[in-house]
Amino acid sequence: MQILVVGGGGREHTLTWKLAQSPHVERLFVAPGNGGTDTLPKTENIAISATDLAALVDFAREQRIDLTVVGPEAPLVAGIVDRFQVAGLPIFGPTQAAAQLEGSKAFAKQFMRRHGIPTAQAVAFDEYEAALDYLHTLAAPPVIKASGLAAGKGVTVPQTMTEAVEAVRAMLLDHRFGAASETVLLEERLTGPELSVLAFCDGATLHILPPAQDHKRLLDGDQGPNTGGMGAFAPSPLATSALLAQVEQTILRPTLAGIAAAGTPYTGVLYAGLMLTSNGPQVIEFNCRLGDPETQAILPLLDSDLVEILLACVNGQLDQVQPSWRNQIAVSVVMAAGGYPDAYATGEVITGIEEAETLGCQVFQAGTQRQNGQLVTAGGRVLNVTALGETITSAAQQAYAGVAKIHFAQAQFRRDIGRT
Ligand code: AMP
Ligand code: GLY
Repeated sequence: MQILVVGGGGREHTLTWKLAQSPHVERLFVAPGNGGTDTLPKTENIAISATDLAALVDFAREQRIDLTVVGPEAPLVAGIVDRFQVAGLPIFGPTQAAAQLEGSKAFAKQFMRRHGIPTAQAVAFDEYEAALDYLHTLAAPPVIKASGLAAGKGVTVPQTMTEAVEAVRAMLLDHRFGAASETVLLEERLTGPELSVLAFCDGATLHILPPAQDHKRLLDGDQGPNTGGMGAFAPSPLATSALLAQVEQTILRPTLAGIAAAGTPYTGVLYAGLMLTSNGPQVIEFNCRLGDPETQAILPLLDSDLVEILLACVNGQLDQVQPSWRNQIAVSVVMAAGGYPDAYATGEVITGIEEAETLGCQVFQAGTQRQNGQLVTAGGRVLNVTALGETITSAAQQAYAGVAKIHFAQAQFRRDIGRT
């Protein structure tokens, strides 16, 4: 088979690394890929942006691609799956209608309310005055969310009412996230640990992946600003089988049934971002794809052939495969550029990846590229250093031994991934 992977971050390096191990795969293309996907066996980077849907369809048609796998949310929400389906090209991911679960938080909230799926109370507003009037009826500041895609930056958790007013103003009056913040949600603030439960879906059957915990804050002890994610581990000890059964029964199954009833059955990965509250698990967000950096911890645990699983999803035959997972724990530590999540330098030379891999780590690249034969930084999140272990402690120890081998100027990373 010839497979096209869309995207160029750590998630896509991990996906491509796993796909390249399949005997079904003859050639892999990654659009646009990064410095890591470039060096995988059978694999070639293609200079097409992940959101250039027309160029991607043309490429897949010309190269007779047998399966396209979409990493990021932007092309899914823009309708890449519908375009490929019209062209008769097999593709793994939800249609544009189904991807609204991530693309519009207002849609997702209404959907959950309609289907009785546990989630925080929220009210949507398009107008500043109305939002402010509502805000003043509340006893405590709510969470403020831009409804549309905002690259993981569209959520503010204010400490005071003044901060809440400021966030609403920035979104509705100052258009901070453009069209993505034309509608905002004012949402009840929940408390509890967070858990990411992801499932492969073929429209009818679902298979739950090892549940992961993400570390969104920049600094140790969950301090500092939110980022795209500074590390992850899986499976999380929070995810007991009783909890997972409850999540499947009260959240995942009703969501898939509701989406199917709307005539747009869900194929791809459904990602439920949960908060484990005293009233049980509640949805704080849906994503329509694999998580980043969760994937860098989850996929190395997969024993089975990923191509067979993805094809089964696309063909509605997930009930005929039985994905098997290693009985281990994976920890993945993000190494980011100095300054991230604000402005950061690029072009810094990276060394030590082979040494880290000699220790038994797997290093997945994100913001990297090759320049004159050298690997250099090219983004905010640069590398993900993953290690597997029998315990979370041994996995974390090994991941950090790998991190210690890797150098680039002003690298920053958290020291408590898998250790909190
Ligand atoms: P999101 O981008 O939707 O994942 O939200 C970013 C972060 O905001 C989450 O990881 C939570 O820590 C926090 N958050 C989102 N919704 C709520 C909520 N209703 N209550 C408390 N914290 C929330
Ligand atoms: N790790 C959070 C996300 O992928 O959205």
